[in-house]
Amino acid sequence: VSRRARTAALVALAAALAPSRAAAGAASFVRPPSLQSVTTRSAVVAFRLDRPCEASVRHGAGTELTRRANSAGPGTDHALALADLLPGTAYGYQVEACGFPLGEAGSFRTAPGPAVQEVHFAAMGDVGCGCPDQAANARTAAARRPDLVLTLGDNAYRSGTDEELTANFFVPMAPLLASTPVFPSLGNHEYYTADAQPYLAAFTLPANNPKRTERYYSFDWGFAHFVALDSTCEEGGARACERGEQLRWAEQDLRRSTARWKIVFFHHPPYSTGAHGSARFMRPYARLFERTGVDLVLGGHDHLYERTHPLKDDAPVPAGTPGAVTYVVAGHGGARLYSFGAPAAPFTAARDNTRKGFLDVTISGDRLRGTAYALDGTVIDQFTIRKVAPAR
Ligand SMILES: [Fe+2]
Repeated sequence: VSRRARTAALVALAAALAPSRAAAGAASFVRPPSLQSVTTRSAVVAFRLDRPCEASVRHGAGTELTRRANSAGPGTDHALALADLLPGTAYGYQVEACGFPLGEAGSFRTAPGPAVQEVHFAAMGDVGCGCPDQAANARTAAARRPDLVLTLGDNAYRSGTDEELTANFFVPMAPLLASTPVFPSLGNHEYYTADAQPYLAAFTLPANNPKRTERYYSFDWGFAHFVALDSTCEEGGARACERGEQLRWAEQDLRRSTARWKIVFFHHPPYSTGAHGSARFMRPYARLFERTGVDLVLGGHDHLYERTHPLKDDAPVPAGTPGAVTYVVAGHGGARLYSFGAPAAPFTAARDNTRKGFLDVTISGDRLRGTAYALDGTVIDQFTIRKVAPAR
């Protein structure tokens, strides 16, 4: 037997004895990883496996993945908390399951502290079609490398079931969710299944309210304060929430915040000329936003793009008027576009129902710049909000 033949035989033997991934029971992702509840000090990496396994997330600053967050036991659904992180820092991570690395290494940035006066986020509504446009939107948004992404409800059509959250949210959004902390909000379609239980199970959210519900919450990112509301609750169609309770909490939360910028997001827009039209049941919140210095309010539900002039008491006012709030409907994130339900209103500053896309917002110091991008990266709309220094 030649030396070469013996070597080949030994290599073949070694390969046969090595624990092959399939033989040892390597898992694969049913739901690819998403980054949830990311703060200045912590992050959650959530994913679902196709078989129950122990799982862990190797991670570390930059590309040195020297730390490890382990699951408490074997399972298919994992939400592993990475603790003791540093603010505004880039971290790499690698999921491992059943003893093998799974998927590609990812990376993200933790939230910066309140002294940092730069924030860049994406917002998209009514994304959950499970269609190619949704995936294209996620890719276009990811290419702009936002710090975080907000969803504006109706994350998974038709009914926000467990299967639909997988197929119509986590899978098509994967390229964005692997690198961008996501902060979702509830739409009416989530409520079609068990008062949104599959959504609540899929996301780890701040739940910083007396009831400890994840249906509405707030968080800070740099010098900006974000509030997610449950507008379906406010509409009255949800048994699992109390309207007055949410409004009282929002008032306290917005008053308590000393953040330079305040952004509120939820599904049903108080001002819209789309087929659904203005959600008047959210107008009491509009009054609250005017009283508490909210700068920008984002909604969906109408599958199109619309931006208002700065508004106060339902009427346009000059930019810089104290208490003026700008509203954007960005329900053009994936689902079939709607026709307008009315001519442009006095509150309408810009509107488009011919292109799907998302809203990209950069805040730098006293200036907020919003750009509505279409799927191909072309610009649908652009606007600026300037902070007027408060009177001394
Ligand atoms: Fe909706």
